[in-house]
Amino acid sequence: MPQNVTLIATAAMGLEAIVAREVRALGYEDVQVENGRVVFTAPVSAIPRTNLWLRTADRVKLVVGRFKAYSFDELFEKTKALPWETFITEEGEFPVIGKSVKSKLYSVPDCQSIVKKAIVERLKQKYGVASILKESGDDFYRVEVAIHKDEALLTLDTSGSGLHKRGYRVGQGEAPLKETLAAALIQVTNWHPDQPFVDPFCGSGTIAIEAALIGQNIAPGFNREFASENWGFIEQNHWDQAFEEAEDFAQYDQPLTITGSDISHDMIKIAENNAVEAGLGDLVQWKQMQVKDLRPRQENGYLVSNPPYGERMGERPEVEEMYRDLGMIMRDYPSWSTYILTSHEKFELLYGEKATKKRKLFNGFIKTDYYQYFGKHVK
Ligand SMILES: C[S@@+](CC[C@H](N)C(=O)[O-])C[C@H]1O[C@@H](n2cnc3c(N)ncnc32)[C@H](O)[C@@H]1O
Repeated sequence: MPQNVTLIATAAMGLEAIVAREVRALGYEDVQVENGRVVFTAPVSAIPRTNLWLRTADRVKLVVGRFKAYSFDELFEKTKALPWETFITEEGEFPVIGKSVKSKLYSVPDCQSIVKKAIVERLKQKYGVASILKESGDDFYRVEVAIHKDEALLTLDTSGSGLHKRGYRVGQGEAPLKETLAAALIQVTNWHPDQPFVDPFCGSGTIAIEAALIGQNIAPGFNREFASENWGFIEQNHWDQAFEEAEDFAQYDQPLTITGSDISHDMIKIAENNAVEAGLGDLVQWKQMQVKDLRPRQENGYLVSNPPYGERMGERPEVEEMYRDLGMIMRDYPSWSTYILTSHEKFELLYGEKATKKRKLFNGFIKTDYYQYFGKHVK
């Protein structure tokens, strides 16, 4: 059984620092931030804990080895020298996926089959198997060989489906936000669960639902399964403790004032169903309403939203009108902070104010800016 393991929390471009902050908040200090990932060393129990708790990471991968490889022989020998038997059982099934960027070894299918052969040889030797490995599929490990500038990184995917799949999204609209990005949008604000929170373009409800999960400190992975749940080298105890910890830390009594509204009746129904699936019942108020009619009642609130971007032909004038309306409304609520994610380059002009802060983010493949207007809090 390994004591410590090196883990990678993969992150969408621009979210690395937010993922790193989450990793540190879980108590892991040896953290390095790289492009698209956060690398950290931690006890094996971090595998269940990070999978359960990380809100903004895409996946958690276990690093088996990292080395330079300029030839297929080198890739084979160095892969074979790694302690695969520590992680993969004799009957374990382990498909190998791969990618290669700016490297001498550019043929991905060849790299995959060489890595596969090297691991098979290693395991046959270690388990004393003369013929073929059974790979019966009871234990499943997805191996990845990722080569970048001639450095091979060999990992096992501990998450299975991406961590954005919380298990609550039973319905969605045309352009749903990834749950991990929605959580990140909230985490860069200073919203406190005691304060009102509104998403007036809520669509399928992702931002409001993520806010409710954050507000009650509910682990985002609580309702799903992970690829590594039955891996032999992770004691069952670690998983049990991680789930118990998640139960203990949840603050189901925390009152919340979260509202999601949308012009579409259908989207509101979808959002409602998703919230029920997330176990939030009626914790979030859902309302069919156009943004023009937004009139927050309390002070010191947070508006976090992902409105339409107006990228499609014909919808631009309507979207620009909406941004103007929103700017006009929010000027009457100076104690509110407003956070808008959009790819529309003229957003500030239309909204009528320069953002206090801007942050470049990708929504999938769309280049966006996250416009942040800080409210002047009143006592
Ligand atoms: C990009 S989608 C939001 C997606 C959402 N973040 C999610 O994860 O599902 C924009 C939403 O704005 C809504 N919308 C369009 N015009 C609106 C208006 N004038 N007032 C309020 N909502 C509007 C659309 O119905 C759509 O659901």
